[in-house]
Amino acid sequence: MVAPSISTIALPRILRIGGGASRQLPELLATLGLSRPFLVSDAFLEQSGMLEPILSGLAAAGIAARVFTGTVPDPTSASIDAGLEALRGGEHDCVVGFGGGSPLDSAKAIAMLAVHGGGMADYKVPHVQDAPGLPIIAIPTTAGTGSEATRVCVITDSETDEKMLCGGLAYLPVAALVDHELTHEKPWRLTADTGIDSLTHAIEAYVSRRANPFSDGFALSSMRLIAPNLRRVCAEPTDAVAREAMMLGALQGGIAFSNSSVALVHGMSRPIGAHFHVPHGLSNAMLLPTVTAWSAPAAVHRYADCARAMGIAAEGEGDQSAVARLVAELEALNRDLKVPGPADYGISAQRWRDLVPVMCEQAISSGSPANNPRVPDAGELAGLYDRVFAA
Ligand SMILES: [Fe+2]
Repeated sequence: MVAPSISTIALPRILRIGGGASRQLPELLATLGLSRPFLVSDAFLEQSGMLEPILSGLAAAGIAARVFTGTVPDPTSASIDAGLEALRGGEHDCVVGFGGGSPLDSAKAIAMLAVHGGGMADYKVPHVQDAPGLPIIAIPTTAGTGSEATRVCVITDSETDEKMLCGGLAYLPVAALVDHELTHEKPWRLTADTGIDSLTHAIEAYVSRRANPFSDGFALSSMRLIAPNLRRVCAEPTDAVAREAMMLGALQGGIAFSNSSVALVHGMSRPIGAHFHVPHGLSNAMLLPTVTAWSAPAAVHRYADCARAMGIAAEGEGDQSAVARLVAELEALNRDLKVPGPADYGISAQRWRDLVPVMCEQAISSGSPANNPRVPDAGELAGLYDRVFAA
């Protein structure tokens, strides 16, 4: 039993950060004593040509990689099984994930199952999978999930449509190549959604009941990087300085929540994504202002710190005023980044209402709402889903 005042921190062994870092994959593999990578990516990255430099770099170093590009957005247990079968068609000593959150989470799940077997439904929370699978190397192509530095992955159960949170050290990459140049072509909507996801990680890690001084430092630094640069990368996609700041902010947000936790926004967001196929960052954005306003009374000082880190409240300003600015800023950010409400997204009010009980059940069973500074009971949770639909 770990004493409550002791924080257990886990990080990738190697992080290489900077423009061009992804080109160092062959050298990184050599450093780690690995030579038979299984590469997990997606069809879009393959067709867009982004995967090619990675493969030609490996080929030039005499490393024969096999590639699986059958990952899907919001990866499902069926897509993971397909990836696992592909991996078993060769002899591999590691899994390289190249892409956004979906390919990275797929790489994590495949690497774990390659050693431990079974299906992902056997590994959802509260199960903790610390015993290692194959080593994972992560190369993110979005500034978003921070998955390159986290010990979690989210896989949708193909049978039940539940977005399963799976956690443990088996999912923590041994190394990550964090190359902002891979994000420069990212489309506007993806830039906005993944950026809000990163901001949500940082805020939730900081206000979480599991926050600690280590995670706090990364969470605040992440907010300082993301807040002034999110609108900027949307307005100026080729702004390399802003892209680099967003990539570092996303990484730091990932480190923060992996060593603290996410909370109510993510807990409520996963069921929306699973049932209505709303992209993860977008469903977070739909929830963030309402959930922040509801949660803030339980941790006014912590939310006020978030406002200060984001540069929207002065250092000497009172906490209540700073929190009001935070909620207003999150609403303004959604307007500026054209985040639709659930109805505008095309979700029917009736179907939403019908699914609220299931969404509440799935949100609570993920464990994330229990980390929130204000913990909702089932009735309050349903009320929040209603409020978000009406907002
Ligand atoms: Fe997230």
